[in-house]
Amino acid sequence: MPPILRTVAELRARVSDWKAAGETVGVVPTMGALHEGHLSLARRARATCDRVIVTIFVNPRQFNNPADLEKYPRTEAQDAALLASVGVDAVFAPGPEEVYPRGFATNVSVSGVSEPLEGAHRPGHFDGVATVVAKLFGMTRADRAFFGEKDWQQLMVVQRLVADLNIPVTIEGCATVREADGLALSSRNRRLSAEGRARAPALVRAMQAATEAMRGGQAVPEALAEARAAVLAAGFETVDYLELRTADLLLPMERLEGRGRLLAAATLDGVRLIDNIPV
Ligand code: PAJ
Repeated sequence: MPPILRTVAELRARVSDWKAAGETVGVVPTMGALHEGHLSLARRARATCDRVIVTIFVNPRQFNNPADLEKYPRTEAQDAALLASVGVDAVFAPGPEEVYPRGFATNVSVSGVSEPLEGAHRPGHFDGVATVVAKLFGMTRADRAFFGEKDWQQLMVVQRLVADLNIPVTIEGCATVREADGLALSSRNRRLSAEGRARAPALVRAMQAATEAMRGGQAVPEALAEARAAVLAAGFETVDYLELRTADLLLPMERLEGRGRLLAAATLDGVRLIDNIPV
């Protein structure tokens, strides 16, 4: 089993030894409840860095809804066993008081790329993400950090953050891991009913169909409206957004030109699912 470190002091002691020996350090930030998506990041880190730290911290500051924070699954023993099979060097799993001690007063807020989409639907969410990610980079002194394309907007926010604050870490984006039927792996999938689970791939299927239609010449607004209707027809209760944006800056895109990203959030069985694909 990898050692589970609870304090920044313990973490820093290990990292100092590694750095003194000239070893490179990779970090995979997570909130636990690990699945194959998270493990794919850990394996990528294992393949490219001398030392790998996986962090497990359910970050209260990024939950705009207290009930969501309460409900977040916590499966640490199982997570540690999965990480042992990947061969990571350490798990950093601090408590909230270690990350946000009394007197903590700093907020990291990335503007622009964090404002639309998830930012518009989850006020304060990306401030919480940017703040904790900046802290994790400072705590781990990682040379490389691994994030999933599953949370594409988060990946763009983190890239902006490290560029703007000159944080000496290389961000690596990793492909979304999917079930055989296309559903993107997510810790939230386990909250779907059996019927919901069967309907859930309709989201990515509608997105793929819209992409093909747009590539085939259909007007962007029309293709997006059809995709939204298909998602609702498949039994989703609401579609928060289903939009074509420029891939890096996430600016609205009226027609297909250059690198685009189709991003969506929709609720099924009361479970909010997000996904995105390249266009
Ligand atoms: P969490 O949701 O636990 O995700 C941790 C990392 O796993 C993120 O980079 C996410 O994009 C990636 N991931 C999740 N599902 C994936 C999938 N199906 N395929 C590939 N990668 C996937 O994202 C967070 O935690 C938090 O916001 C965090 C960055 C840890 C800050 O608190």
